[in-house]
This record gives sequence, C-alpha cells and structure tokens, in this order.
Amino acid sequence: MPAISKQSSAVPVIRFENVHKRFGPLVVLNGLTLDIPADQTTVVIGPSGTGKSVLLKHIVGLLKPDSGEIYFHGRRIDNLADKQLEPIRKRFGFLFQLSALFDSMDVGENIAFPLRQAGGFTETQIAQTVHEKLAIVGLAGSEKKMPADLSGGQRKRVALARAMAMNPEVLLYDEPTTGLDPIRSDVINELILKLQKQFKVTGIVVTHDMASAFKVADRIVMLLHGKIVYCGTADEIRACPDPEVQRFIQGRASEAELDALDRL
Ligand SMILES: Nc1ncnc2c1ncn2[C@@H]1O[C@H](COP(=O)(O)OP(=O)(O)O)[C@@H](O)[C@H]1O
Ligand SMILES: [Mg+2]
Repeated sequence: MPAISKQSSAVPVIRFENVHKRFGPLVVLNGLTLDIPADQTTVVIGPSGTGKSVLLKHIVGLLKPDSGEIYFHGRRIDNLADKQLEPIRKRFGFLFQLSALFDSMDVGENIAFPLRQAGGFTETQIAQTVHEKLAIVGLAGSEKKMPADLSGGQRKRVALARAMAMNPEVLLYDEPTTGLDPIRSDVINELILKLQKQFKVTGIVVTHDMASAFKVADRIVMLLHGKIVYCGTADEIRACPDPEVQRFIQGRASEAELDALDRL
C-alpha cells in the first residue's frame, strides 16, 4: 500500500492516532491514524461494513476506542467524560445515515431541537435560526410540514438544516446521498460544497458514492481492513496504482467475489 501523503503540518482539527476498536471478535479499526485538516472536506470511502460509521461515532464520543488516541485541535478527547465532552460536541453537526428526523415533530421543531436541548435561546432566536437554516437548504417556509410529507431528498436537507442549527465548526455526513437518485444526490453535493465555501465548515463525508466523493472532496481517504490505506486529492486517488483502491473507485468485483458467484 502506498504511504499516507499530504498530511498538513498545521495542527489538524481532528487527529486519530493508532486507534483500535473491536466488537467481540470483530476487529473494525485496527491501528487507524488520520488527520482531518481545517476548512476542507475530507471524504472517507470504503466498502459497506468497513467501519466508516464507527469512525464518525468515535469523533463525537458515541464510541470510545479500545486503545489509541483521538484529538480535537490538539487536545485529547477520547478519554473525556460526557460532561467535559459536552461543549466540544456542540461544535459538531452530525448528519446521520438515515436522516433520523423525529416523525412526530414538524420540520421547524426538528431543526429547533438541538437549540432547545442546548438551552439559552429565546423563541424569537429559535424561529430566526430555523428560518435561516431552512433557507440555506432551499426549503424556506417549510416549518409546518411533517417529515412524512417530505421526499427522501427533502428529509436529508431538513436533517442537514438541523445539523447546522448550532453553527457547527465541523460537519459529519454519514452517507449523505445513499438512497437518493442522481439529481437529488447532486443537490446534496452542492449543499456540502456551499457549506464548506460559505461557512468554512470542516467537513467529513463518509460515502461509497464515488460520484459524490469526487465532487465534494478536497481530499479522499480510503478505509480498508481497519486502517487508512490511501489518502490524496481526487486526481491522486484516480491515478493511485493500488489495485484494491482502483477496484473500489471503479466499482469492479474482485476475482474472489466473482468466484463466489460461480458457486451459487
Ligand atoms: N455497536 C456495535 N456493536 C457491534 N458491532 C458493531 C457496532 N457498530 C458497528 N458494528 C459492526 O462494525 C462493522 C462496521 O460497521 P459500520 O461502521 O457501520 O460500517 P460502514 O462502513 O458500512 O459504515 C460492521 O460489521 C458492524 O456490524
Ligand atoms: Mg455506515
């Protein structure tokens, strides 16, 4: 595997250092080391079940490593108690894999939720924030709609508006385009680009949608067998000689996978 290149010399926003995580006998992260630089979008690609969501959950403390360290702006965070982690968590927005809207709440209340949880905002401030975030995602005036009345793409955009509610410094996107048609996927891609450019959000996008990866990435890293095996710009990854990386970005099955088909 090629050496990891392009690590920034500045202190990264997030740093994983030799992180190991297993669930019983299943080793998911196996000595993962990764720097996430500021004000850029880093895309993490990798096959399903490879640990991409697990990686994101470690960043916000939903999962803790078995060993290794995680840093935020140079400060170690993996060993912090929930109380100490609270102010740091507020600096992150998380777009969950399945949007995870509250179906019993209207769109406005979904976006208001993180603000109400954090406390200290007036009703006017909350209404203003909801209005502002809905406009950013192109759904101005949809406060009173119910999640059930929205399309998949609209639900994602509401979830993104909610992830933006606290003006996060870092946005974590878990498979933001999965399940959407190419046009609606592209709307989400454009939004990711807009948030990075307009609001200088540091983005981490986990995906196996290569069209989305190439469109939004400043840098692409590949997670395989519990480690980062490749890291570079979109052009660098396109030219990467590693056969496993090429197979993945071109969506080609391996000989072993094809052999398994023959046996069916
Ligand atoms: N809380 C958990 N308990 C047990 N196994 C888990 C847990 N979370 C994830 N896994 C397993 O870890 C592996 C990686 O999961 P995940 O990060 O969700 O993959 P993906 O790359 O598709 O996002 C999978 O085999 C999954 O079943
Ligand atoms: Mg996942």
